[in-house]
Amino acid sequence: MRTLSRLWPYVRPVRTRLFTAAFIAVLASCIGLVIPLVLKWMVDGPIADRDPAGVWLGALYLLLLGLAEALLFGFRRWLVARPLSHVEAEMRADLYRHLQRLPIAFHDRWASGQLLSRATTDLMLLRMFLAFPLTFLLVNGVTILVGVSIMLVQDWTLGLVILIPAVPVLITCVVFEKQYSRAARQAQDQVGDLTTVVEESVLGIRIIKGFGRHRSQARAFRELSGKLRGTELHKARLLATILGIIVTLPELAIGAALVLGAVQVADGELSAGTLVAFLSTALALRWPVDSIGFLLAMSQEAATATERYFEVMDAEPESGSTASPAKDGGPREGLRFENVTFRYPDAPEGSPPVLDRVDLHIRPGESLALVGATGSGKTTLTALVPRLHEVTEGRVTLDGRDIRDMSRDELRSRVAVAFEEPTLFSATVGENVLMGGGSGEEDLDRALAVAQADFAHALPQGTATQVGEQGLSLSGGQRQRLALARAVVGRPDFLVLDDPLSALDVHTEAAVEAALRRVLADTTALIVAHRPSTVLLADRVALLSGGRITAVGTHHELLRGNAEYAHLMSGDPAEELEEQR
Ligand SMILES: Nc1ncnc2c1ncn2[C@@H]1O[C@H](COP(=O)(O)OP(=O)(O)O)[C@@H](O)[C@H]1O
Ligand SMILES: [Mg+2]
Repeated sequence: MRTLSRLWPYVRPVRTRLFTAAFIAVLASCIGLVIPLVLKWMVDGPIADRDPAGVWLGALYLLLLGLAEALLFGFRRWLVARPLSHVEAEMRADLYRHLQRLPIAFHDRWASGQLLSRATTDLMLLRMFLAFPLTFLLVNGVTILVGVSIMLVQDWTLGLVILIPAVPVLITCVVFEKQYSRAARQAQDQVGDLTTVVEESVLGIRIIKGFGRHRSQARAFRELSGKLRGTELHKARLLATILGIIVTLPELAIGAALVLGAVQVADGELSAGTLVAFLSTALALRWPVDSIGFLLAMSQEAATATERYFEVMDAEPESGSTASPAKDGGPREGLRFENVTFRYPDAPEGSPPVLDRVDLHIRPGESLALVGATGSGKTTLTALVPRLHEVTEGRVTLDGRDIRDMSRDELRSRVAVAFEEPTLFSATVGENVLMGGGSGEEDLDRALAVAQADFAHALPQGTATQVGEQGLSLSGGQRQRLALARAVVGRPDFLVLDDPLSALDVHTEAAVEAALRRVLADTTALIVAHRPSTVLLADRVALLSGGRITAVGTHHELLRGNAEYAHLMSGDPAEELEEQR
């Protein structure tokens, strides 16, 4: 109940309709309970008196009552359908918005399938809960109360007989509740795991096929889905047990009441009409009682879904900033790392930091190449500039202002990035590039020219060509060039490029470099590089080693004066020795 109460803010806007619908359902249900009373009147009146006109009248009443009940239930459905799909859509939109705001550290930690299953299966469970169990637990509860009262009034001894199973049924419900809750949680988590496997294998289909791993992948999937099936069967067994008890015990009680009642009628202590009314009321209560089992089960699943939904919603979004307004015409100081230490949030206690007291200054308009062995922390360092990760200690400043004092919008409009892995979206080439800012054809053409991505104009629909999911319809080098175009399209003040040319052939690389050099002339740039040709683009080079900047200088200075740098640049041990000499 406490978990489910967290849904209230979403339900609040539709509360009037929901309450009205519940009230109408209670009304409809109670109309159903009047039918046995009409039957009693018919049996003890017109039927006993052999009065055909009276019987017809009774039949007419029954018809009208049935009609009213059906119409009211239909009206209820019409009332809730639209607002509840609205609630589901709102919750999904909120989840999506929140996911966009959560820090990269969160996404590093969470499997995408777990997020996906929350946005789909769990929200569907919630809508079903709001549409059905929420109302009907109330409606059936009221119906049972009214029905039992009617029965007690008709004949209280028979009424008590009918009530006997209530105690064991309640106990079963409580016990079952706990077990079912655990099973439901497990099943929903397993749906998340399964979603992750499906997603990974769809995205990684090239690797799976390339290595002939389809069998082992299918086996892994089968195992997981087998587990899920096991959990679902466990749930079904629990449900079967409760249903068995909930259905059988009242049925036995009705049987006992029938025998007792028949004896009383034979003895003349009870009118036949009363017995008929009593039994048809008992039968009318069968559905409300029987349904409680799976209404509770659905509520339990909804509680689990709510819990899973809020696990994500409760995660802290990227910390805001105390955005102090930019000082107009502030000094152009470039990009500065001051005493920056960084450790990944999920790194084990006491492990050495990835970046250890890094000091680095990139002057305004300067471009600095960052060189270092793989795993030395280059990508990590670049990710600190657009605040994809937060520094653990120290600070990063743009033109003298701490990046934590800027709003994210401002920061990200001044800094543009291109990563090693050029991610594109299922949109047109033009839309992908213009994601980086800029407006319209002119900027687009200029950026494509800088990135040597003119191939885009030769695509079937030019820059309006769809690139397909993740841009997989393009070659690696083509994707890299589009990502580079995206980085430069908005004419950012600061450009951060993480090895942006790695997939290009030497000729294309040279052409991109020539064009980039013009862009870089008035941009402050940090460029991760592996090849001498890329390094030569930059004014100076910094060497990252063991989490520290161990050398800064021009390419030639470092080549001459730093053995590690020479080794990284040449990859040739003989040459390295020569350089050292
Ligand atoms: N999301 C992450 N969580 C934890 N550790 C990470 C994460 N990303 C990278 N690392 C670790 O940080 C170190 C530096 O990685 P990275 O910056 O990608 O190196 P480079 O780009 O220089 O090859 C590596 O040891 C890597 O294992
Ligand atoms: Mg890297």
